Amino acid sequence: MTTPIPLLSLKAQHERLAPELRQAVLKVVDSGIFILGPEVKQFEAEFAAALGARHAVGVSNGTDALRVALEAVGVGPGDEVLVPSFTFIATATAVSALGAAPVFVDIDPVTMTMDPTAAAAAAGPKTKAIIPVHLFGQPADMDELCALAEEKGLRVVEDCAQAHLTTYKGRTVGTIGDAGAFSFYPSKNLGAAGDAGAVTAMDPDLAEAVRQLRNCGRETGGPAYRHVRVGQNCRLDELQAAVLRVKLKHLAEWSAGRQAVARRYIQNLQGLPIFLPDPGRSGTSHTFHLFVVRCDRRDELAKHLTARGIGNGVYYPIPIHRQPAYQEVLIRPTALPHTEEACRTALALPMYAELEPEAVDAVCQAVKDFFKGS
Ligand SMILES: Cc1ncc(COP(=O)(O)O)c(C=O)c1O
Repeated sequence: MTTPIPLLSLKAQHERLAPELRQAVLKVVDSGIFILGPEVKQFEAEFAAALGARHAVGVSNGTDALRVALEAVGVGPGDEVLVPSFTFIATATAVSALGAAPVFVDIDPVTMTMDPTAAAAAAGPKTKAIIPVHLFGQPADMDELCALAEEKGLRVVEDCAQAHLTTYKGRTVGTIGDAGAFSFYPSKNLGAAGDAGAVTAMDPDLAEAVRQLRNCGRETGGPAYRHVRVGQNCRLDELQAAVLRVKLKHLAEWSAGRQAVARRYIQNLQGLPIFLPDPGRSGTSHTFHLFVVRCDRRDELAKHLTARGIGNGVYYPIPIHRQPAYQEVLIRPTALPHTEEACRTALALPMYAELEPEAVDAVCQAVKDFFKGS
């Protein structure tokens, strides 16, 4: 067996940035300011600028980013929110945490993001919002979903946890709907040294609502013990913000690196009985948080790759509407055939910016050998 190739490695990234990261962390420790200080403020400004968003508000993780964004746009008990079932469970649990109900919508079979026609069919009188998920780094069909939202008076919270810097028709995701929710979980395209997240918004009042909700209901700049909302504590901390500021400077370059890896995969894997991701439908970019192929013999292929030391992963094996956690509370359960199909066939291949061309070729060779039966 040749050198193992992991699904994800942060080693090269961390080795390169270690001196700068240590310095940034020490600076915070020496300052003695750990909560809502200059690092969070500057990170928020820099992240907003990188996306072209008017506002970015740092929060504790991507799940809280979704929850506070939903609360800020007015989602509450008794409301319904349209969400895909083919996503990480946080997309739905953020809705449930507010006493609202996720209504699961099927995906488009090509992009694996929410199907606008299915969303239109699932919308009902209690529907308050839609969460398009830009899954694996590929943007959802925002024109159609925003048109539906407009027609039905729904709010749009984009789940951008896997799509930092992904663009859709000239705009960066997180700036198209009412709000964007980002995760900086360490394995994300922009990852902290722990849990972290952010909400983006164009509307200053919405951004202020998020700031209040993340900080115990305090008004920005207001007295410490006056609370204008029933908020929670889900602040981004100074240490994570300092780490994120170091890494944010490299995000565009890392995205380009991922896209180069994807192009090489796509070139090398043509002609095999697998469905390949699209590097960017017209007017969109794909930032390849994951490189996910689909294959009818997915489990056999996964086993073959693992035996050759090649990392791989199933995102996601069980759709949310089939998770035990949601069986008691399913709203209007409908057939979601494309979601089921994706759960049965999707397989992620190694993907990170520093993945060497030779390693990509070795993965491709192993995939080819699988279909040759060798
Ligand atoms: C699509 C999606 N939404 C939401 C989240 C939640 O983010 P976090 O793990 O930071 O809470 C994640 C990440 O894990 C995700 O992949």
